[in-house]
Amino acid sequence: MKILYSNDELKTCIRRLGAEIGKDYRGKDLLVIGLLKGCVVFMSHLLVEIEGVEAEIDFMTISSYKHGTRSEDFKFVQDLDSEVKGRDVLIMEDIIDTGRTLAFTQAHLRNLGANSVATAVLVYKKSNLEVPIEEPKYVGFSYEDKEFIVGFGFDYGGKYRNLSNVYQLEEKDYKIYLSA
Ligand code: IMP
Ligand code: MG
Repeated sequence: MKILYSNDELKTCIRRLGAEIGKDYRGKDLLVIGLLKGCVVFMSHLLVEIEGVEAEIDFMTISSYKHGTRSEDFKFVQDLDSEVKGRDVLIMEDIIDTGRTLAFTQAHLRNLGANSVATAVLVYKKSNLEVPIEEPKYVGFSYEDKEFIVGFGFDYGGKYRNLSNVYQLEEKDYKIYLSA
């Protein structure tokens, strides 16, 4: 594995996003919705960088039946507790890959009658998009490579979420995992 974004770079980037969000949502009724589990590390860092806003938070877990590394056929594992109607909603998501998870979530929140729906994402694999999405307003990093990334909330087979940096997997890492 090799470091892609160091912990310092991640924190600097998240501070910038938090300042923007704080500015944009001052005086608004902000409901932050995290998509579990990947959002956890990004969201907890980002939330405390948003100043001057009385945000509420909630979580959704959406599971997809994976075909290889693709996500399709979504179902709710855990839906929201909060009232969404009329609220300004900000989705926090770890990564946009094909865009399917985000497209599904955005449509769901629109259907629930949100006043506005925006998205903050740590890593945007823009060249992998397969479905139309509402463009994320707050983007940490744009990522153009094909390799899977892990750490700082990102997992591979459920592991590595605790790493403090974001790493790019290399050929030998896939082999280690498969033979473990
Ligand atoms: P999408 O629905 O295809 O946009 O995929 C979103 C989900 O795929 C994310 O929430 C991640 O769980 C997973 N994912 C996609 N690429 C990566 C990666 O490089 N590392 C870790 N997870 C990834
Ligand atoms: Mg995930």
